[in-house]
Amino acid sequence: MKTIIINGSPRKIWNTAQILKEAQKGAESVGAEVEYVDLYDLKFTGCRSCLACKRKGIEEHCKCYWKDELSPVLERVLQSDKLIVGSPIYFSEPTGVFRSFLERIVFPALSYNDYTSYFKGKVDVDVFLTMNVPESMYEDLYGAKLKAYFEPFKFLNGSVRIFPVYDTLQVKDYSKYEMGSFSEEHKKEVRETAFPKALERAFNVGAGKE
Ligand SMILES: Cc1cc2nc3c(=O)[nH]c(=O)nc-3n(C[C@H](O)[C@H](O)[C@H](O)COP(=O)(O)O)c2cc1C
Repeated sequence: MKTIIINGSPRKIWNTAQILKEAQKGAESVGAEVEYVDLYDLKFTGCRSCLACKRKGIEEHCKCYWKDELSPVLERVLQSDKLIVGSPIYFSEPTGVFRSFLERIVFPALSYNDYTSYFKGKVDVDVFLTMNVPESMYEDLYGAKLKAYFEPFKFLNGSVRIFPVYDTLQVKDYSKYEMGSFSEEHKKEVRETAFPKALERAFNVGAGKE
């Protein structure tokens, strides 16, 4: 069992990363071979629309022909059984860097002949999204939109599941920042009550127990 974990947050030790590291522990606990990638460490762009993946007569479909530091990661994603991705929500969507990854992994799989997938394998995709909004606002604000955002991953032929992590602690000490719309007390309470449950869930998802 191969699991590849992709961190779409620029912060390597904060909410998204902590969730993903727990998923990593879960996957390792059941003997999966796990690779963890920080997307922000790589120099790459989104789809360049070179359309090399759509040329007639190419040796291989479902391959991104653009070469940069993401290229080997894309190959390893397609060789995995499970892809676990994580991103903070920035302006109602995952980060721009994460979007670039999505374009590069999915577009080569999409057939412009009949909109089926060129991909012959199956990769299950689990998505962790961390955000400021509380659970009570998630469905109304983001539910349908984010479901649609992650639809393209269906071209990897597996399941696509979204696990939101709400109301995260954005900074350690709110008193040092102009962040008057947040209550530090509330954020810290969520951190001590709900966040450990989100970590536990991430472990279980990584272990394939949820
Ligand atoms: C540029 C930027 C935009 C953000 N936009 C949103 C947003 O639209 N909705 C939201 O709920 N949180 C938003 N946030 C908060 C982050 O999603 C939240 O703090 C997240 O847990 C950070 O993840 P990290 O700790 O892995 O960096 C934003 C944060 C930043 C830096």
